Amino acid sequence: MKKPARVAITGTAGNIGYALAFRIAAGDMLGPDQPVILQLIEIEPALKALQGVEMELRDCAFPLLEEIIATADTNEGFDGADYVMLVGSKPRGPGMERADLLSANGKIFGPQGKAINDQASPDVKVIVVGNPANTNALIAAANAPDLDRRQFTCMMRLDHNRALSQLAQKTATHVNHIRHMIVWGNHSASQYPDISHCTVKGKPAKELVAQDWYRDEFMPTVQQRGAAIIKARGASSAASAASAAIDHIKTWVHGTPKDDWVSMGIPSDGSYGIAPGILYSYPVTCANGHYTIVQDLAIDEFSTKKMQATERELREERKAVEDLL
Ligand code: NAD
Ligand code: LMR
Repeated sequence: MKKPARVAITGTAGNIGYALAFRIAAGDMLGPDQPVILQLIEIEPALKALQGVEMELRDCAFPLLEEIIATADTNEGFDGADYVMLVGSKPRGPGMERADLLSANGKIFGPQGKAINDQASPDVKVIVVGNPANTNALIAAANAPDLDRRQFTCMMRLDHNRALSQLAQKTATHVNHIRHMIVWGNHSASQYPDISHCTVKGKPAKELVAQDWYRDEFMPTVQQRGAAIIKARGASSAASAASAAIDHIKTWVHGTPKDDWVSMGIPSDGSYGIAPGILYSYPVTCANGHYTIVQDLAIDEFSTKKMQATERELREERKAVEDLL
């Protein structure tokens, strides 16, 4: 039996946390031969609800679940963590943009970054899900000086999966037949879902769909999908968000297939002319637990403008939280 992996999840009594913990305990994220210790973190008022989650997890009698720690103390919660999933924070309501959450949620991520720095495994892998995810991840990374900033990432996989699904429906095919999707930039309405490099069953996607559909339907649908779900469900996406968070870590750990890549929010190293440091979504390949930005893609004028617009928004968000960095 392998040594158990410690997975810390914040906000586990919330909607996403509730969808996430059970799938991780079932082995969906780290594999069917990897035992896990779940370290569930909540704020004090939610501890009773968290106790209920813990009871249900125990009632599942998961073969891979070694131990559960449920706590409001981040030092205890992040202790020795190999993986940290920062979900706990407020979701937006109807009519709000995710950036409107920055003042309420931003201040959560500095102290959590510091606690991760002090308590987690030196090799910890962190994903930020709580919105606005890119800038919250920037705040957490800035408060963890002993860790490599590249250990802090944010979730763009939900947007990537949404883009795959929209294109699959339009081309009457299956997501399994699509390669090389990209969502660039911020997890916000300015994100740039890009099919320029995409193939569907080996054919260039751009030859299969009309430019009008791509620009006037596909892009806004993917960009606004979160708001559409809030309108339909009366609550923000939860099961799909949890599933994407699992995909994100699973790919980071187990790698991308040879002929494909995924979109991940990672600290920019200046690739494609993006300001270094901001958490920007790039196409990446993963191998041996590391991610690498896909380089040298041809970028036309339309794409350049879209990539710069979403970068501009991230630079503005970074400026707005300067005091937290
Ligand atoms: P929710 O309100 O159902 O649950 C949030 C939970 O976080 C609550 O249980 C709350 O007590 C807890 N919490 C709040 N502050 C905390 C803190 N400091 N430490 C630990 N726990 C804390 O919300 P949800 O639907 O689970 O969404 C959580 C976040 O994820 C929101 O910010 C939402 O906008 C975001 N989200 C992001 C994506 C993405 O693609 N990046 C997708 C969906 C949702
Ligand atoms: C989503 O994309 O579904 C989440 O970020 C929730 C939201 O506020 O849209």
